[in-house]
Amino acid sequence: MCGIIGYSGTGNADELIIEGLHALEYRGYDSAGMTVFTKNGLKTIKTKGRVGDLESKAKTMFLENSHCGIGHTRWATHGKPSESNAHPHGTDNIMLVHNGIIENYKEIAEELRKKGYGFASETDTEVAAKLIDLKLKETGEKLSAIREAVKILQGSYAFGIVFRDETDVVYAVKKDSPLLIGIGSDGNFIASDVSAFLKYTKSYIRLGDGETAVIKQDKTEVFDLDGNSVEKQVETALWNSSAVSKSGFRHFMLKEIFEEPEILIKTLDSITKDFHPDFSATIPDDKFFENIGTIHIIACGTAMHAGLLGKYYIEKFARIPVAVEVASEFRYNDPVLRENDMVVIISQSGETADSLAALRLVNEKNIRTLSIVNTYGSTIARESKHVIYTLAGPEIAVASTKAFSVQVLVMLILAMKLGEIQGEMTKDESTELCESLKEVAANSIHNVLCGTETIESAAEITAKHNDVFFIGRGIDNYLGMEASLKLKEISYIHSEAYAAGELKHGTISLIEEGTPVIAIATDEKYYEKMRNNIEEVRSRGAFVISFCSENAEIIKNSSNIAITIPNDADCLKPLTAAASIQLFAYYTALALGRDIDKPRNLAKSVTVE
Ligand code: F6R
Repeated sequence: MCGIIGYSGTGNADELIIEGLHALEYRGYDSAGMTVFTKNGLKTIKTKGRVGDLESKAKTMFLENSHCGIGHTRWATHGKPSESNAHPHGTDNIMLVHNGIIENYKEIAEELRKKGYGFASETDTEVAAKLIDLKLKETGEKLSAIREAVKILQGSYAFGIVFRDETDVVYAVKKDSPLLIGIGSDGNFIASDVSAFLKYTKSYIRLGDGETAVIKQDKTEVFDLDGNSVEKQVETALWNSSAVSKSGFRHFMLKEIFEEPEILIKTLDSITKDFHPDFSATIPDDKFFENIGTIHIIACGTAMHAGLLGKYYIEKFARIPVAVEVASEFRYNDPVLRENDMVVIISQSGETADSLAALRLVNEKNIRTLSIVNTYGSTIARESKHVIYTLAGPEIAVASTKAFSVQVLVMLILAMKLGEIQGEMTKDESTELCESLKEVAANSIHNVLCGTETIESAAEITAKHNDVFFIGRGIDNYLGMEASLKLKEISYIHSEAYAAGELKHGTISLIEEGTPVIAIATDEKYYEKMRNNIEEVRSRGAFVISFCSENAEIIKNSSNIAITIPNDADCLKPLTAAASIQLFAYYTALALGRDIDKPRNLAKSVTVE
């Protein structure tokens, strides 16, 4: 949550900061601000709203010759989105931007008030800035002041800090929130992620918890908690700046859905060999997959839905019981974990606070753990003993699409691996599935992407309604849950997903004349049952839009609109259907003129509890 950036160099700091904030805007976008050193002194500009609003405001200010500064794009946690709550915060001596949450800020504020400090915002961040100011007065030295202050702070933080009397230096410190230092040829950066400086440099250093950094135009120094200099490894970003641009697409979300065929094949190639599951790059010893009691899949939101599809696959192919748990619940539920259980954490960002806390809890118990993560070097990836990367590349749109599809793919291949180990799946069966998977990615999904007319018409009808229901059975029930989340998230239409047989136990009372009911029916085993459920709701006035296979004649005939996907193996159809339901959410939101890549109230990376 929240994106921070800092820069010291020969370039125009205000322009580079705004540019970086645009790239970080997916992390939060309710208010923005920056502080830059200009030839007329330190200038701070803040605004409620988007980075674009900050940019317009900055154009009206005299910011010439700014070569150093810090910036912030906010997802409010303490205090509503407003100009006064927008970062940077500070005093006459210091200005600071923050990503994270200071848990003991109220107690610290009390102490600071006694020492004569007042507060102009409702934020925890202002308290941290003023604490550093106090420590500066006490110690007279900047790094010591920062170190003394963070000893008192509880919670998570990545801070970018500037001091009025040092016009070309940015200071940084972090704990439990990501912070990178970009090493450029004409200047250096700090940022919440590489996308903020990728246009200027692919080289970066990852700041560790408790480390402080001093960033100057031509030099970067990192120190440990005791003030000793630390040699840091310079890493190279794997993504190009084109990966974080829209490449001609109207929205990142659409671009990312269109990337699915390519990234599915890339990820498939990384976890299969000769058409067989092969995780040896991460887990060399097959013993890891043997004698498993229960598998616990832990994740949030869309990643949790990928886990539900994973449950379906693992139980089907390997006959191992799987429990899928929402990370925010798991961490406080005193989970029953047995010695021979396995925990699978799924996370696109690798930074989700609840998923990370669940991982830490499991690590303490010494249970075998595997994380499925998209972002290289993220905290979850670093703290997991075993990581399988989904090779989706950066996902910028707040609504997760391509990451979901590759998470499902990895769960499928993992299920096949477990199936082979358990003796529940023959090598021939898994070879056949792996071969078909390439076909599905290259052809079936491609076909869906190339023919969206029916999806667009169905979306236009749906956009006229306030309530929508999704129904499905088996794996299609789980897919319906994801379809419903996607629709709510970006179109703001209320929707609920139900197991198709469950609707008549209460919810069917909500069906009125014209209520859209979206039936997902890719699994042939359930066509008859789904047809009955469709008839039930249609006879009560529902307008039924179905997502089904081309061969599902009885579903097509009983629906008002049928959106079809090719007839692949039943267990592979969810991958194609996923693209289809994502496009449906996209076109519905488009018909309503929503801000698709940055839906209200949300942020991409949920690094707070
Ligand atoms: C929905 C969405 C969220 C995330 C969830 C977990 O489109 O993106 O529900 O899936 O916040 O995020 P990660 O996967 O980064 O842990």
